[in-house]
Amino acid sequence: TCVDIDAEKIERLQSGEIPIVEAGLDDVVADAVAAGRLRFVTDPRQAAAQAEIVFLCVPTPQDEDGSADLSYIEAAAGEIASSLQVGAIVVNKSTVPVGSVRVVEQVLQRPDVEVVSNPEFLREGTAVFDFLHPDRVVIGGDDLDAANTVAGLYTPLDTEMLVTDAASAETIKYAANGFLAMKISFVNAVAAMCEAVGADVADVVEGIGSDHRIGRAFLNPGPGWGGSCFPKDSRALVSIAADHGYDFSMMRGVIEVNDEQRIRMVGKVAQAVGREIVGEQPLAGVSIGALGLTFKAGTDDLRESPSLAILEQLADAGAAITAYDPTAVGELDRIQQHRLARLQLAESALDVAHGADVVLILTEWHEFKDLDMADVASAMRGKAIVDTRNLLDPLAVKSAGLTYDGVGRR
Ligand code: UGA
Repeated sequence: TCVDIDAEKIERLQSGEIPIVEAGLDDVVADAVAAGRLRFVTDPRQAAAQAEIVFLCVPTPQDEDGSADLSYIEAAAGEIASSLQVGAIVVNKSTVPVGSVRVVEQVLQRPDVEVVSNPEFLREGTAVFDFLHPDRVVIGGDDLDAANTVAGLYTPLDTEMLVTDAASAETIKYAANGFLAMKISFVNAVAAMCEAVGADVADVVEGIGSDHRIGRAFLNPGPGWGGSCFPKDSRALVSIAADHGYDFSMMRGVIEVNDEQRIRMVGKVAQAVGREIVGEQPLAGVSIGALGLTFKAGTDDLRESPSLAILEQLADAGAAITAYDPTAVGELDRIQQHRLARLQLAESALDVAHGADVVLILTEWHEFKDLDMADVASAMRGKAIVDTRNLLDPLAVKSAGLTYDGVGRR
């Protein structure tokens, strides 16, 4: 039984509509509904009263000071506290600070109910695949029986199972996201160095990634990491460490490199049109065609999208921007909340090139790779391509008479 207090969302799910873009999720949901194994309701108490195991999967957004806001998880736990069966297990699936199992226990005030941590490692866009093929399942709690019961749910997945204490399970989640963010910041810094010394980041990544101690995954340079997880979790990691008297300076550096990366991308656009980001409105009169608004391909999620952060800086510098994204087209309201009120949305990828001085690739949507560069060149006013995802073939771009600048590419 799946509960949400958002009645509209539940209604859409009940009528078979999936409210997010997530590959393969519609089939999984349709099959489970048809088999009578899945239903969507709005009453948490009723659902909790019938459950042996309750997963709390509510958001833990970032508070003003960088810490995680626990109000939703506390509210959800409070709501179900008196309805839970004797001997029920409550599972923290949300990404929550170290110590949150204790917080939920305190809210519940139910000594007969066990609380267990079971962090999630799936990625947006490939969530169904990641869920079915995990590298490991982590479960943390004081009560071994409860932890083993939750572990039993995953038996069909035939994966490595780590059962540990609650604080370790909660730390694993943040440390995993922090490490992945560190890998990306590292490669973005290496890409900047490649540009300085005349090396090619693709070859450098191949050369270091084949060392199995380093690994090839999560070493793609780009406009900086974003999304609903890395930004908030990396700040929370710094904040949790600070709360316990440790200055996690390395993580602060990872975040700083990520902020710099966005600024570097803005600099690349300015450089492509022979301007510099100094003084008032340095990009006045410059027309930019932007490709991609979501924080990565395969999702409709705009949260903490590097694309929006970069476009915001370009708009502040006076540029006129037309953008296209295959999933965020109907999202103008949300985009305008990002202070991009003057952003124009185009109907197709090629449309953004019309009259543009620069075409700027921000999200690695596959359809941008297939753009005919001769068509792009003839639609543009200028001739600069800035590719923050290293998505295009520089030779194809140049042979259409355009200039090309990627990230750390020769
Ligand atoms: C991330 C983690 O990968 C998941 O394991 C975790 O469960 C999830 O956060 C979460 O905590 O819920 P997600 O936010 O969906 O998943 O996105 P990622 O695929 O990890 O990408 C994050 C950001 O890094 C994106 O902006 C992406 O474009 C960027 N990235 C990723 C790179 O710039 N280079 C890479 O090589 C990989």
